[in-house]
Amino acid sequence: MPIVWRDAFSIGYRQIDDDHRHLLDLINIVEGVLTGEYALGRLFDAIDDLATYTRQHFALEERLMMAAMYPGIDRHKAAHRELIEQLQKAAKPIRELKAAEPLSTLTIPEEARDALVGLLRHWLVDHIIKEDMQLKSVL
Ligand SMILES: [Fe+2]
Ligand SMILES: [Fe+2]
Repeated sequence: MPIVWRDAFSIGYRQIDDDHRHLLDLINIVEGVLTGEYALGRLFDAIDDLATYTRQHFALEERLMMAAMYPGIDRHKAAHRELIEQLQKAAKPIRELKAAEPLSTLTIPEEARDALVGLLRHWLVDHIIKEDMQLKSVL
């Protein structure tokens, strides 16, 4: 089930909210590929797009927090690092398939698929609600 944007996710800062919406789209594409809704041919690009855009987004937030002298910046940056590690860890078994098999015969092991889909269900949304929301009064 795709994650649908809700007003409750808005921190009221346009650039960040736009990024979050885009990241949810990218998450939904990865999930859609893994659950068979979209063609498997998009798999590796979809994961790479999500990883790349996530890094860009975190860098933007960290620049804004720095400029605003946000006191919780260290904790927030640590949370970003943790999220990147979680994504890398869950995506690794799937990325490794790229070298192993041609796409035409590729099947994704259920365990690897469930781990990544399961992570992505709450991965960004929890962070938005818990950490990014605290930037609402700062930015
Ligand atoms: Fe964010
Ligand atoms: Fe953040």
